[in-house]
Parts: sequence; structure tokens; C-alpha cells
Amino acid sequence: MLPKINPTTTNAWKALEAHYASFQDTQIKDLFAGDASRFEKYSLKFEDILLDYSKNRLDDKALSLLLQLAEECGLKEAIASEFSGQKINTTEDRAVLHVALRNRSNTPILVDGKDVMPEVNEVLAQMKDFSEQIISGNWKGYTGKPITDIVNIGIGGSDLGPLMVVEALKPYKKEQINLHFVSNVDGTHIAETLKLVNPETTLFIVASKTFTTQETMTNANSAKSWFLKAAKDESFVKNHFVALSTNAEAVAAFGIDTKNMFRFWDWVGGRYSVWSAIGLSVACAIGFNNYVEFLEGAHAMDNHFKTTEFDQNMPVILALIGIWYNNFYGAETEAILPYDQYMHRFSAYFQQGNMESNGKYVDRNGETVNYQTGPIIWGEPGTNGQHAFYQLIHQGTKLIPCDFLAPAISQNQIGDHHPKLLANFFAQTEAMMVGKSEEQVVAELKAAGKSEDEIQALKNFKIFQGNIPTNSILFKKLTPHTLGALVAMYEHKIFVQGIIWNIYSFDQWGVELGKQLANNILPELTNEEKISSHDASTNGLINAYKAMR
Ligand code: F6P
Repeated sequence: MLPKINPTTTNAWKALEAHYASFQDTQIKDLFAGDASRFEKYSLKFEDILLDYSKNRLDDKALSLLLQLAEECGLKEAIASEFSGQKINTTEDRAVLHVALRNRSNTPILVDGKDVMPEVNEVLAQMKDFSEQIISGNWKGYTGKPITDIVNIGIGGSDLGPLMVVEALKPYKKEQINLHFVSNVDGTHIAETLKLVNPETTLFIVASKTFTTQETMTNANSAKSWFLKAAKDESFVKNHFVALSTNAEAVAAFGIDTKNMFRFWDWVGGRYSVWSAIGLSVACAIGFNNYVEFLEGAHAMDNHFKTTEFDQNMPVILALIGIWYNNFYGAETEAILPYDQYMHRFSAYFQQGNMESNGKYVDRNGETVNYQTGPIIWGEPGTNGQHAFYQLIHQGTKLIPCDFLAPAISQNQIGDHHPKLLANFFAQTEAMMVGKSEEQVVAELKAAGKSEDEIQALKNFKIFQGNIPTNSILFKKLTPHTLGALVAMYEHKIFVQGIIWNIYSFDQWGVELGKQLANNILPELTNEEKISSHDASTNGLINAYKAMR
């Protein structure tokens, strides 16, 4: 079971507070000036991935205290509990075993005394067989034509995971299969998607752990009606609808043959489910072997996380740096900035991954925390972000630690695009650290021929204080293996932080609330009565909506 230690009561926390008091104004560039080996010392290599964390407001003392914090909070024991299948998702009484789904070494992992690996392998074999049938064209639609389009219908982890991965691994996509993702209950999403596909050649993958989620079931029912309008025979549903779920009864009730159901288990959290049957659309898009490569990459990172000393452990180091800014510097957000267009949903994916996991104010003792927990995660791919929000990062009033990610080798070697892209990456991380001093600005303005008065009037606007912390994550190429490792790296970072913040990272009661509330209001929108059961604002809005429609 997980420890229940309030991190602020540890010796390390108190020592970190004291250290922060004297260290807080230290400039990163001065730390480089004082240590010629800082880059070597503060960077880590794992396979083809380099993590450079030297551009942080971090010294040996802060780092060793943060490592001590991890020890004092029982991180080692917590990692062992997770990997051995203990029910560490206590509020739902579930194990947390996405690591079993990619356990390529196939060592037994027990839940309630039973090895889960045979079932995991069984579903993987089913996914292999199915994806091969789709890709080869052997799986036929109701008029005997092969499938050309797959529509994944799901939301949250049942959408964002496969969507992010399919986008990131587009260069590996099988040409004959087009992928579409429908998530929003807004009818526009399904309507616009259905305009692009033909019922004879379209497969719908209904991806829902519970198979009760309002958005997904509404979209799946609309897709089924659209399909039946053309096919006119319920018996054809089995050729065009498959389900990814833990709920066989609901799948059968929907009319999907349970032979075409790919199961997973309650120990797979929604936002960690891309490694499970939820990854079926990925396997159909890039082929099963590439999907397995993706699992292999994650497994390699799992082994790194599980066995590497904390001071050399990428997810642990990233997590501790995040805690340093979140809890001592008061940073409220973190930006994830991939310099790779294929990774354009990566930040959105970890926005859910991180914020749904660590957005909690109740600790593992059931008490309200007296410190900050999960940060706000956001970001867009570079260089687009540079022309949008980097201004605030450079000259705003908020401290925003940033992760920069980029491949050394582009999947598209066109002219000098890639060197230009990476020049922006390196220039931005450098500029964020060094800033631009008054002397530099004055010299530049002088060189541009400005008068003394003009220089005085302009100079303050052009000064950059710098000292903005960044992690640089440079990898060789965005292969399925590397993507798997990167995703697992961030997953474990989230885990480490949740352990130290003494919260339960694997439930999501806040989301469950939204599901309940919408279901309560829905009947009120469909009757003709004036609504008075809520607060005045909600009543007013509902009644105004009913009058307008
Ligand atoms: O967003 C909350 C959540 O529970 C996610 O964790 C999950 O991926 C999503 O809802 C969808 O749920 P389901 O897969 O059961 O439809």
C-alpha cells in the first residue's frame, strides 16, 4: 500500500524551504559560469533520448534535498507497490497496471493472486489478428468491400491516447486506412466525420471502458443509425462495429457481437489506456508490429524507472524539478512544447494525463492538503507557440517552467526546415535562460543609431530578465519505440509527483461529478416546463435556452 506522509512534515521539505530562501534569486546563467561541467552533470541519456535539465534553477544542494524528499515520502516502496499489482488506486479499490499491458518481458504480475499476463497476451493476439485482417483487406464490409476508414468513437483517455499516437506516428501509417476520431457530444463532430466516409467501407471502433459514457454512447448510436440507413439490416452491424470495453453486457446490449469486443480490465485507468485494447485504432493505423514497438519503448522506460537510482532516473528527476517550482517557487503551470508537428496533440494528452491524475486537494489521509498539488499543463508545438504565447513566458509576470522536445532527425527532410526548427528550439531555451541585459539593449539601440532620449524611452521594454527554467528533451527520431518511452516517462513523472504530494493519482471523482450533473439536467431541457429547481443563474440560463431554441 502507499505511504501517507504529508511531504511538508519531512526533514527534506523544511531544508528545501530554508535553501529556497537563500537560493531563490540565483541566476541559472551564473550557475553555468561557476561550473564548467554543469551540462554533463545535469543531463541524462536513456537509449536515444537525451534529457538536459541543466537550464534549471537548481544546484547540488536543492537536487540532493529533492532526492531526499522522494526517499522520505516512500517513493521506492510506492514504485514496488505499483509494479507488483497492489491496489494503490485505493478509492476505487483497484490496482494500477498499465505497466502490465506493455510488460514485454512477460514476467507474472499478480492481481488478487492471479497472473494478469495470460489475459493481456490473449487480447494482444486478438488485436494482432484483427488489425491484420483490416490492413490486408480480408475484413469485409456488408457489400464485400474492404475497410478504408476507421472511426474511433470515444472520449478522454478513450480518444486522446489513440488520437495523439496516431498523429505522432503518421509516417508509419498504412496508406490504405484512414483514421477519424469522434469524441465531442456536439453533433457537429460526428456529422462532419460522417460526411467523409462511406458506410460500405467504414469500421466504427466504439472505445469506452464503461460503455456508459454519455458522449460516446450518443455518438455510437448516431453512427449506428447512419449506418443502418444505408445497410438496412441489423445483422450487418457486426461487420462495421467493434467495441473496446470492460463491460461485455453493455456491449451486447448495444448490438455488437461480443466476439468483436476487445476487453481490458478495471486496473487500466482511462488516461493510461492507450496501451490496452483502446490502442486498437493505433494497431490498425500503423500495423501491429509498430504498435508492439510502441509498447516495447514504454516497457524499456518502465524498467529504467523501476531499476535506476533516483539521481539518474529521468521520470524521477523531471518530477522533482516540477515539485521544486510548484511548491517552492510558486509556479502554477508547466508548458510542454514539442518541436515536432506530428506531436501536436502531445500537450493535450498530458493535460488530461497530468491534470486528471494530480488535480486533487484531498490527501491520502482524506485531509485537505496545505500545499500545492498538480500544475496546469498546456502547450502547443513549436514554432507556432512562439508566435502566440511565448511573449508572456519571456516578459510576463508568471514563472512558467517549460519542457522542450524535439527529434534530431525529421521524418520529412525538406530543404533546411529541420535545422531552422531546431535553431528556434535552441535559441528559445538559451534566450529564456540568459535573457537580455540593459547593457546589451543599450548597445543594440546605439548601434541602430538611436538617440540618447530614444534609448531611454525604449530600453525597458526590450530588456528580458531571463532565468526561465527549461528542460530539453532531444531524441534521435520519433519512432514508435521512442514515442512509447517518452509517454511512459511523463506517466511516471506524474506518478512520482502524486506519491510525494500524498494524493491518489488514479481516480477522477471530479470528472464523475460532471457526468452525473449533466444527466440530471438533461430531462429538464426536453420538457416544456419553466425550471426553478436550481440557483437563479442556472434556472435563468435553462429557461432562456428553452425560449430561444
Ligand atoms: O475523463 C474521465 C474518464 O473517466 C477518463 O478517464 C476516460 O478515459 C473517459 O472518462 C471516458 O470513459 P469511458 O472510457 O468509460 O467511456
